[in-house]
Amino acid sequence: MRISVIGAGYVGLVAAACLAKLGHAITLVDIDEAKLKQIAGGISPIHEPGLDEILSQVSVETTSDYERIGGSDLILICVGTPCNQDGAMSLEYIEKAARQVSRVLRLKANYCVVAVRSTVVPGTTEELVIPILEQSGKKVGRDFGVCMEPEFLQEGKAVYNYMNPSRIIIGQLDERSGDVLAELYKHVKAPVIRTSIRTAEMIKLASNAFLGARISLINEIGNMCKALGIDTYEVAKGVGLDDRIGSKFLNSGIGFGGSCLPKDLRALIARSRQIGYEPEILERVLKLNDGQALRMVELLKTHVSLKGATIGILGLAFKPGTDDVRDCGAIKIVEALLDGGAAVRAYDPAAMDNFRKLFPQIGYAGPDEVLESDAVLIVTEWEEFEHLDYTGKIVIDGRRVSKAREARIYEGVCW
Ligand code: UGA
Repeated sequence: MRISVIGAGYVGLVAAACLAKLGHAITLVDIDEAKLKQIAGGISPIHEPGLDEILSQVSVETTSDYERIGGSDLILICVGTPCNQDGAMSLEYIEKAARQVSRVLRLKANYCVVAVRSTVVPGTTEELVIPILEQSGKKVGRDFGVCMEPEFLQEGKAVYNYMNPSRIIIGQLDERSGDVLAELYKHVKAPVIRTSIRTAEMIKLASNAFLGARISLINEIGNMCKALGIDTYEVAKGVGLDDRIGSKFLNSGIGFGGSCLPKDLRALIARSRQIGYEPEILERVLKLNDGQALRMVELLKTHVSLKGATIGILGLAFKPGTDDVRDCGAIKIVEALLDGGAAVRAYDPAAMDNFRKLFPQIGYAGPDEVLESDAVLIVTEWEEFEHLDYTGKIVIDGRRVSKAREARIYEGVCW
């Protein structure tokens, strides 16, 4: 199939690379020429296992010129939907992309399908995207089709997730639109579910709401366990064996970060308020999450006075396997440490360059030097942290790194 992917960010780049690997002819459109050049050279601009390898094997046409996508059978809109100040989703990039696609549709002779793959709040595709596409003078359902297909990729596992999906959700305007997308997934073993467009939009946000709620709930249990002298990981193991609950996503710690869960929950809350419904559970989920990382600093203060101390940080990325520091717990922790008068020395195997852009004033060093600090906080559970020597150290662990228990003073945030 001739497929155009709009947006060479996380979602678009992984889709473009994997679809090319599956044998489709891909045109990847972005405004960032430098990024496109890198991709054309077979190098991924993001740290994602397996992506460089695929990019070096396949041929993806990269361009900033929308005229090049005129021959597409399928156009995937994969641009970012960041948060506004008030928590609502910013639809600026979606709107811009839809306008560009609309210009392409105006000149297009054959039927094609436009699929929104960006995460959007329910109603966006029908109320914003379709009206813009129809400004082309073409009629939706007759001249072109529309779908909303949410993505469920996890950073650090995105290529694997793309090739081995848990489910495919096709939110379709009509059968004809859905058939074009379904053709892409003929080979997939996972369930392929066809829904209305706004149901698909909601499935994505509801999935992230469940994941976020689950993490905040286990953290709440963990905070209680800590105070009661109970090991929350043993509790989670016992609870997770109930197959109605399941054992995944029950790791208590410093809470969830990244570019998706916090943003998507905020967006869903904002959308809910727009329709006059106060989403009480989701608000509490976010509130608990906002305070969770700072519990590490409170624990630290029971052992070390911050003023004049040097505090080491092991791990900056919002989770292992990525260089992404968006909405990561380390941001709140470092801010609190600096506010308290401490000097900070940090190490992360992948995310130091990104974190340095946010905090150029702190020190960056190798793990051994970080361990020389007055106390150390483990903020991301990189596997290599299981091989460090913690003997004699003061360690506050936000992520359950077993080896760190050998420290002179060891405290887990929830255990
Ligand atoms: C999340 C979802 O898991 C994906 O399904 C979804 O497609 C994606 O958002 C998205 O909307 O695009 P991701 O942001 O990559 O994926 O990260 P997760 O693996 O979900 O982790 C999120 C955060 O939760 C991390 O900070 C992680 O450390 C934390 N977490 C996760 C916990 O604190 N405990 C757990 O048990 C699991």
